[in-house]
Amino acid sequence: MEKVNLAIVGATGAVGVAIREILEERKFPVDNIYLLASERSAGERVQFNGISRTVQKLDEFDFSQVDVALFSAGGAISKEYAPKAASVGAIVIDNTSEFRYHDEIPLVVTEVNPERIADFKNHGIIANPNCSTMQMMVALKPIHEAVGIKHINVATYQAVSGSGQKAVEELAKQTAQLLNAREVTNNVYDKQIAFNVLPNIDAPQDNGYTKEEMKMIWETHKILEDDSIGVSPTAVRVPVFYGHSEAIHLQTHKAINADEVRKLLSKAEGVELVDDMSQLEYATPVTHASGKDGVYVSRIRNDGSRENGIALWVVSDNVRKGAALNTVQIAEKLVKEYL
Ligand code: A2P
Repeated sequence: MEKVNLAIVGATGAVGVAIREILEERKFPVDNIYLLASERSAGERVQFNGISRTVQKLDEFDFSQVDVALFSAGGAISKEYAPKAASVGAIVIDNTSEFRYHDEIPLVVTEVNPERIADFKNHGIIANPNCSTMQMMVALKPIHEAVGIKHINVATYQAVSGSGQKAVEELAKQTAQLLNAREVTNNVYDKQIAFNVLPNIDAPQDNGYTKEEMKMIWETHKILEDDSIGVSPTAVRVPVFYGHSEAIHLQTHKAINADEVRKLLSKAEGVELVDDMSQLEYATPVTHASGKDGVYVSRIRNDGSRENGIALWVVSDNVRKGAALNTVQIAEKLVKEYL
């Protein structure tokens, strides 16, 4: 692969740190790298590929120096700076929801619809899906291809790292406060998250769903290119640091049984099957997903309560496959096949 000049916007945040690690691990062909953040972190020094680099201020940066810019600093930052970066020739891979629903901007999961990367030519921007949609798509695409998915009912169990570094600190702090019989304080979440679960992720919508749940509906339709799939999510924040889990109930068009799904998923790219309840083999965020790249699938079973019903459990590291890893995988394919 040709070496590229790269910028990471939000390089000091939860996803930005993971992006840096993954770039190093996968030996991404970096020529120059620019680490960008707000003035809070500007001037800090961080290591990349064994060399100490200075974090720079985003609003003073000239994007014409870079080939690819990876954005993970929140929607408002992407809204303002991603089009500016694209207008001077940088190809943006954006981790926020800012451009995901724009018809001409591709929304890519590398194992599912890598061919859409070609559409970066439309606006110079590629969108990275929401973490909950991402792992669900990796697990469900092979099933959709084989028998067609008619309906998805999904409940998520989402880690606090999905809300950024401050939320990781809030869970740790509240846990310590409670174990020391002190009063709990909360800033990131509207209610206590330690020893609790919150069925409230992103903004409430007029239709009774939350924005996080609507993202799973919109993004499933866009990525699988099929608006006829019924999707009904309940998105729940749980006191887990890293790794989202999902209980998924499917109805397929053609019949398929649990053994056939197991066989399909055992060969699927990005999927790790951990499914033998007789040996208590099932994936959890802590034992399997945290810090790893795979999408782990367990508890595959026939759902006898409905025609063509299949139930499964899907776990993945929300910061890695759910955000940073997919971003880097998109960048790799972009560089290899299009630059
Ligand atoms: P900073 O370290 O300067 O605050 P997280 O998702 O973990 O909260 O991280 C958010 C990331 O986005 C951080 O790297 C943060 O940088 C960056 N960021 C937040 N606001 C801005 C801003 N106004 N300009 C540039 N970077 C920002």
